[in-house]
Amino acid sequence: MTDVVQPDAAGIQRAAGVLRAGGLVAFPTETVYGLGVHALDREAVRRLFLAKGRPANDPLIVHVATLDGAASLLASRPGSVAALAGRFWPGPLTLVLPKSRLVPDEVTAGLASVAIRIPAHPVALALIEAAGIPIAAPSANLFSRPSPTRAAHVLADLDGRIDLVVDGGDTSVGVESTVLDLTRDIPTVLRPGAVTLEMLGAVLPHVRMRDASHTASGAEPMASPGLLSRHYSPRAPLTLYEGHAAAVVARLAADARDAAHQGQRVGILAADDDPVDGFTIVRVGSDGDLPGVAARLYAALREIDAAGTDVILARGYPADTGIGIAIQDRLRRAAAGRIVHVDS
Ligand code: TXA
Ligand code: MG
Repeated sequence: MTDVVQPDAAGIQRAAGVLRAGGLVAFPTETVYGLGVHALDREAVRRLFLAKGRPANDPLIVHVATLDGAASLLASRPGSVAALAGRFWPGPLTLVLPKSRLVPDEVTAGLASVAIRIPAHPVALALIEAAGIPIAAPSANLFSRPSPTRAAHVLADLDGRIDLVVDGGDTSVGVESTVLDLTRDIPTVLRPGAVTLEMLGAVLPHVRMRDASHTASGAEPMASPGLLSRHYSPRAPLTLYEGHAAAVVARLAADARDAAHQGQRVGILAADDDPVDGFTIVRVGSDGDLPGVAARLYAALREIDAAGTDVILARGYPADTGIGIAIQDRLRRAAAGRIVHVDS
């Protein structure tokens, strides 16, 4: 069975020992909970894929505590790494870099690159340091479930399938790290996150966002297999309403009434002050506090899913800048193509 430990000295030592021995340990990072495993232990990495039900063609992020800790994992270090690390590490940024032969193919799904991150959460850093090994860790959810932002989410998906959870409370960022590919001619963001394109642009003037239409359709499969759109989805079909807030809420409420008339149990993911009532409603935050929306998004998706609704209607948030782009990306994946554009 899966034990839960506190992130005190004894808990960290125990978790580090389990990791060194090839076990599976979920732990908090500032973004979401990760499911950690010894990155250089092929057998342990295989067990991790089995526990998650994750396809073997989706590569993992290797977590280290220092830039030196990554040196032996890399075949070369592009010139921009030092500046990016200096500015954004520890933090919610993952760099895709040329891998050395030390990194097992199981970790990278056979790619010539490896994804590296130094997380900012003190528990994650303490655990990596105590273990003294690089730790491969995907988000600690079952494949196609929303990423976990608290220990209870991890247990809901993986109780009995993993050895240990280190309970560090709620994570603060709430959406997964920005993934930046430095192996291409033009540095490319594969997954938007809390380190935004604007922030990266201050260090890398030519950085660009991947073409979402390609990755979502699977036409660019090797770029980042984990970016297929069926990730992050709740069990009930979710429809996303995008556009001007007042018009969106009016249309969403009308569609909710129609669905209810047809006998469907309707769940709504609304902003805190949206004028909707009479359905199963989970409030996510407000347009004026997008970091708060990001922090609560996955817990809200799990909550509305657990309520046992037949359909979920969700309203979008401003997505022109900042973490709004990551929120829109995750909501669109959860919607898997069911997007209603409301003009005014
Ligand atoms: O915030 C996070 O990144 C969390 C915490 C635990 O660190 N981890 C996380 O891992 O979200 P995961 O496995 O759920 O997502 C990793 C993403 C996937 O989209 C994967 O395809 C991509 O990173 N990735 C990993 N290695 C890659 C590589 N060599 N090239 C391109 N994409 C890669
Ligand atoms: Mg994941």
